[in-house]
Amino acid sequence: MQQVANTILRAVERRLRQATDIDSVEQVRVQYLGRKGSIAKELAKIPALPDDEKPTAGRELNNLKQRVSELIEETRSRLTTEQAGVGPRPDPTMPGLRRPRGTIHPISRTMEEMVDIFRTLGFEAVEGPEVETDWYNFEALNIPADHPARDDWDTFYITDDTLLRPHTSPGQIRVMESRRPPLRIVVPGRCFRRDTEDARHFSMFHQLEGLMVDEGVSFGDLKAVLHIFLRQFFRQELDVRFEPDFFPFTEPSAQVHCTCVICQGKGCQTCSYSGWLELLGCGMVDPNVFEAVGYDAERYTGFAFGMGADRIAMLKHQIPDGRLFFQGDVRFLSQF
Ligand code: PHE
Repeated sequence: MQQVANTILRAVERRLRQATDIDSVEQVRVQYLGRKGSIAKELAKIPALPDDEKPTAGRELNNLKQRVSELIEETRSRLTTEQAGVGPRPDPTMPGLRRPRGTIHPISRTMEEMVDIFRTLGFEAVEGPEVETDWYNFEALNIPADHPARDDWDTFYITDDTLLRPHTSPGQIRVMESRRPPLRIVVPGRCFRRDTEDARHFSMFHQLEGLMVDEGVSFGDLKAVLHIFLRQFFRQELDVRFEPDFFPFTEPSAQVHCTCVICQGKGCQTCSYSGWLELLGCGMVDPNVFEAVGYDAERYTGFAFGMGADRIAMLKHQIPDGRLFFQGDVRFLSQF
């Protein structure tokens, strides 16, 4: 009986190894395990055996039956997987593959926030070129070629007449040349200066220029607009202080300070223990500038201001070193 069982087992193994589809597996099952199959036939022979051989023969045939069923099951599941595709069957309940998502750069976001606030005050955002001409960057802004004030904005020249803009003020001239008052605009953008790098200076930085021109615009309007902007931007009550300053394109000119938003005026490292932060330059548009763009300086008045977006972003997010913004370290940038 042992021999018969082995022969059957080897025949089944061979047939199953060659099976290429479920149907042929089913044929093997019927042929060997079926009611009239080979194993049933062998079982039927047991009653005729001598009594002492019956138990062993029964056990061997039952083991054979068990083994053949297992082989058939294994082959069936192998064929099912293969027919479904290559390799293991995909699990549709697994989480999908995620592509890493970028974030908006903190400086871009800061400029968007600034522009949004000015928009609520009726200012429209316009952009100017980063490569400017001498006329827009200096001449029309009342900074003649021989004027020492040029040194404050000395920058990277491309030709004798073209340069990387060191401030966004040329944006004022471009808008005034192409439109008539009343005007309320802001010019956000990238600027360049030949500065030595440190925690607060970089050869590339960002500014937001503001300009309002109409009949009867006063210094009081400038103070109100800046105060409203700063309160909204830093989302806190604060005082604003104007200190006399000089810019060739504004008269009078001022440097604006506000209560330190880090210590609320108590004095800390950020404000050098003064309680005040120096934020931006501003003033009333100089009549010479109106003349350069062909506006009637007797009829119109206006104010202008320029503030550094990088500095304002550093204060808002309490970043100690502005160089972090431009080093491209995703661990830093993805926090915003
Ligand atoms: N353009 C000046 C600067 O870069 C800032 C400024 C703009 C001052 C407008 C007055 C009016 O320093």
